[in-house]
Amino acid sequence: MPGIDCGVERRMGARAGLGDAADFSPLACGEGSGVGFERRDTRVPLSTRPRPDPPPPGGRESVGRDLASTRTRLDAGRTSPDRDPAFGVYVHWPFCRSKCPYCDFNSHVRHGLVDEQRLVRAFAAEIAATAARTPGRTVSTIFFGGGTPSLMEPATVAAILDAIAKNWRVSDDVEVTLEANPTSVEARRFKGYRTAGVNRVSLGVQALDDAALSALGRTHTAREALDAVAIARRIFERYSFDLIYARPGQTVPAWRAELTGAISQAAEHLSLYQLTIEPGTPFAALHASGRLATPDADHARNLYDITQEVCAAAGLPAYEVSNHARPGAECRHNLVYWRCREYAGIGPGAHGRLDIGGVRRATATERQPEAWLALVEGQGSGLVTDEPLSRTEAADEYLLMGLRLAEGIDLNRFERLAGHPLSAERIAHLTQHGLVETLAAGRLRVTATGFPVLNAVVADLAA
Ligand SMILES: C[S@@+](CC[C@H](N)C(=O)[O-])C[C@H]1O[C@@H](n2cnc3c(N)ncnc32)[C@H](O)[C@@H]1O
Ligand code: SF4
Repeated sequence: MPGIDCGVERRMGARAGLGDAADFSPLACGEGSGVGFERRDTRVPLSTRPRPDPPPPGGRESVGRDLASTRTRLDAGRTSPDRDPAFGVYVHWPFCRSKCPYCDFNSHVRHGLVDEQRLVRAFAAEIAATAARTPGRTVSTIFFGGGTPSLMEPATVAAILDAIAKNWRVSDDVEVTLEANPTSVEARRFKGYRTAGVNRVSLGVQALDDAALSALGRTHTAREALDAVAIARRIFERYSFDLIYARPGQTVPAWRAELTGAISQAAEHLSLYQLTIEPGTPFAALHASGRLATPDADHARNLYDITQEVCAAAGLPAYEVSNHARPGAECRHNLVYWRCREYAGIGPGAHGRLDIGGVRRATATERQPEAWLALVEGQGSGLVTDEPLSRTEAADEYLLMGLRLAEGIDLNRFERLAGHPLSAERIAHLTQHGLVETLAAGRLRVTATGFPVLNAVVADLAA
């Protein structure tokens, strides 16, 4: 499948590895079983982004103020599956202060100063080039992901938002999220981001335990992270934070206590990822040499079950495999991915899905920041992949992404994409095993029993 973003590629890899031997036992999870307990897939896909209709009046400041004064409304109509005309813009900031040993995101450490003004010009050029291909869109969500976008100067964020607003129409209730590391230095910039137009932050807290944070190679303490959460709460209408669980040595009671503590600080949204051992990372080397032991499949399953139970009891049910929210407070940007809506990918290593001339196209840009800059400065965009998806690929992607959501998929939409219906026989087989259910509105979704073996369920349906 060409150009599928890293999360989807991994999912396709997982599927390919399943073959016909998929085991639907809910306990057949974790490494070694070949059946996905989502150990590699639980992160928000990185993914997880055109000339426009009339740009809003005024320059950067007025755009910033317009965006900043925007109140996010999440009514049922806006979030109703498969109907919202969402268009997301993903902006990738590829730099971090240091590299965490578990992380394989496209993030780079630069010891010299990063030339933000030069980067802003490149981001603006790529935004204009992408907008020229997708006229008439209205941007409903913007996501600054990384890397560490909270290393950006607020003026840089404002300038990129300005470029987006000059090139596309921007919805009145646009959701603008910025990923932030929870250090005191970065929290000092939060007000500036708010003024620039950011209305939601997503903080990488990772753990509320100093020993665990240190083992994860984080540069902040739990206290510092909670202080950053408190600052975010004062400044932004909406915030979320990430935790990593199924960490080496983590017990069920310890995770229950940590999660309960986290929920007391959470407002409306939490992302809870199982630690995945990513090839090529320092953690992978430690793991291979036996110096880093991750929970076995049964233990990981227990930690997963506790996560679902504690979050649901607190009114934060999972709306996606790893994402929990109060109903209506889901991350609208990530819903754009999971509902297979259209998004532009801007910046080094960003992936996009553009619907052009009735064809869905997978786009990706050069990953290495300096090479990306050179491409954009030379040809106006850093695109290295721009390929049409076949019907089968588009339909498979809809299955892969949509079945991660508690709301599931629209069977008619699948049929329109694939050119044939999803096999009734396979649906019946999975239903008999209690792994999927069909809803009256023509939707198919994975059940609580099915989620721990989601890869196998998707593999069976896509086969
Ligand atoms: C782009 S990263 C984080 C943004 C920000 N730089 C930070 O570290 O706070 C997005 C999230 O992916 C999760 N993540 C990254 N690598 C992971 C791994 N190997 N296993 C589980 N979660 C991971 C972390 O929770 C992280 O907050
Ligand atoms: S987890 Fe965040 S801070 Fe750490 S290397 Fe990855 S992107 Fe950078």
